[in-house]
Amino acid sequence: MIQYQSFWFPGYRLFKNTLKSQKHFKAKDTDLIIASHPKTGTTWLNALLFAIVNRDNGNHPMNESPILSQHPHHLVNRLEDVNFGGGFFNQLSSSQLDDLPSPRLFSTHIPYVTLSESIKTCDGCRILYICRNPFDTFVSQWHFYNKVVIDLDGEQTLKPYTFEQFFEDWFEGRILFGPFFEHVIDYWMQSLANPKKVLFLKYEDLKENPTIHLKRIADFVEMPFSLEEESRGVIREIIDMCSINNMKKLDVNKNGLNYSGVEKKAYFRKGEVGGWINYFTPPMIERMDRLMQQKLQGTGLTFKLISE
Ligand code: A3P
Repeated sequence: MIQYQSFWFPGYRLFKNTLKSQKHFKAKDTDLIIASHPKTGTTWLNALLFAIVNRDNGNHPMNESPILSQHPHHLVNRLEDVNFGGGFFNQLSSSQLDDLPSPRLFSTHIPYVTLSESIKTCDGCRILYICRNPFDTFVSQWHFYNKVVIDLDGEQTLKPYTFEQFFEDWFEGRILFGPFFEHVIDYWMQSLANPKKVLFLKYEDLKENPTIHLKRIADFVEMPFSLEEESRGVIREIIDMCSINNMKKLDVNKNGLNYSGVEKKAYFRKGEVGGWINYFTPPMIERMDRLMQQKLQGTGLTFKLISE
């Protein structure tokens, strides 16, 4: 990993691409950017946002939605994978960026400080940030790291992590796109300062009351659900289509690799709130809780740790 602007970026090649995106990406007024720390619900929000934005435009009746035939990572391009020249990802070349349909949807794990200035200053371009409680995020990252990141390491320099080792590194912030709290708090502060520009979403809230939060998302991107759509059950259809149980069942999400070379199915594990309780020892809970209190103090940000 490489440390830059106080955050840890994965590997030299992806880091180089991140710098290129920081320098060369030109945001448009209509762009929608999903930002997140890894394993906080990015794939889910990709699917939900795509479904909201593309509903009822005559192109995709729900039963023909591209979500049923394409992995969410293929429907929403990741900013740090765009090839600005010399990159190794084949997902999308920078010359194709202008051809994407409007609104262009992107996702990114890049921390706020490292985002392209054009995203920050472009009036209409909006950011949707999703976060998740640190306990469940930690467990999800640990599983993902041991299953996927090690496989991707062509040079085979990475070793499996014990839960305890990962915990220590996590504490120091030495994790992909870490430190976690700083990543989250930077976007949180931006959402408070400019709520029209940054919408802050929590995984646990989406799980608990998806209807309310789908409406928030649709309002934020200025595509509100009409009363007629609500009574037709459009919101419920989107929620059901993008639910983890449905996504897991789709052939397209069961087989093959995404553009970053990761098994598509690796993005759908349990999708629960509170599963961390089966992993953390009492001393770990105490340490994590203390860190959380310390980092969040004065920010007004809180997390739900268990499902109600
Ligand atoms: P778990 O590992 O806790 O199951 P990301 O997309 O940011 O990589 O996050 C992955 C996490 O989101 C995984 O959590 C995954 O199971 C969960 N997830 C993926 N799709 C989901 C969905 N449709 N609904 C709820 N959770 C989902």
